[in-house]
Amino acid sequence: MRVVVIGATGHIGSYLVPRLVRAGHEVIALARGQREPYHPDPAWQQVKRERVDRDAEDAAGTFGTRIAGYQAGAVVDLVCFTEDSARQLAEALRGNGSLLLHCGTIWVHGPLAAVPATEDVHREPFGEYGIAKAAIEAYLLDQALDGGTPATVLHAGHIVGPGWPPCNPAGNFDLDVFGAIARGEEIALPNFGLETLHHVHADDVAQAFELALSRPVSGESFHVVSPQALTLRGYAAAVAGWFGREPRLRFASFERWAQDVDPTHANTTWEHIAHSPCMSIEKARTTLGYAPRSSLRALRESVSWLVEQGRVDTGGRALV
Ligand SMILES: NC(=O)c1ccc[n+]([C@@H]2O[C@H](COP(=O)([O-])OP(=O)(O)OC[C@H]3O[C@@H](n4cnc5c(N)ncnc54)[C@H](OP(=O)(O)O)[C@@H]3O)[C@@H](O)[C@H]2O)c1
Repeated sequence: MRVVVIGATGHIGSYLVPRLVRAGHEVIALARGQREPYHPDPAWQQVKRERVDRDAEDAAGTFGTRIAGYQAGAVVDLVCFTEDSARQLAEALRGNGSLLLHCGTIWVHGPLAAVPATEDVHREPFGEYGIAKAAIEAYLLDQALDGGTPATVLHAGHIVGPGWPPCNPAGNFDLDVFGAIARGEEIALPNFGLETLHHVHADDVAQAFELALSRPVSGESFHVVSPQALTLRGYAAAVAGWFGREPRLRFASFERWAQDVDPTHANTTWEHIAHSPCMSIEKARTTLGYAPRSSLRALRESVSWLVEQGRVDTGGRALV
């Protein structure tokens, strides 16, 4: 099948494009050309790479026509953030025979009433990003069920993998949280450390897209996360164990905790724990055959990479 991947060289695309090539697809990879994939892979030699600025072409009203012109069996859209942008693409693909696979986010859910949450629970998204992604999903699935462009939405969790920092046990991106744990220092966590994060390895997101291509299910959305979310304290204890340490944790109400934390990191933590995602993957598992790594396995790969790169001051402590 000819497959167009929009936003092909980032976290997901770096794994997805080689997977699609190896599965025998003809891949057209679109990006602005400002970065290379995270990992070199000979499969990229078989890929047609095109430089495109989706935002500029959306504004000019030419992006949808460009994509429809590729006459692809499937279009994987990894960088769509507004309903207008989704609409332009879906309308251009209408009647083309293309399946549109959109990358969503678990942020389409706001606070959860029961966990693990399934795709069909009542949603109250908050924040511009989650609200916009929920609107995209509603638009794409409604038009698909109404005879428009076949569309499937895959909602990723916190994407991790070697090459970039993962969300840490304090729910933010301060690399020294990993460092402090490795050095055996006490770290502070907000509240009781019982709020949750739900990571997923980028290669498992790629796995889900590959599966959704081979077993198309139009008009449906799927959570694409690891099998189980982690509590902050459980995550911190696991990281301590990786460095042969006992976890040294103290707890404070979020407001008290935030007083000692850089405001950018504190805001990021707030956003993560206010969502406290914990998603069910049962639908993806049973419908698509999705089988992801555990959060801790994915995170250990990320943390190993950070240590190898000298990005974390472990005080000389190695991973055991
Ligand atoms: N990161 C997370 O933890 C997370 C969590 C949940 C859901 N998601 C979803 O994942 C998707 C993003 O996937 P990702 O994490 O793989 O992305 P990413 O790592 O940020 O990579 C973005 C890709 O898109 C390209 N790109 C960026 N702006 C572009 C533009 N205007 N026109 C054309 N190409 C453009 C980039 O290359 P150039 O810079 O060279 O153009 C790159 O190939 C989004 O839909 C997001 O909502 C992410």
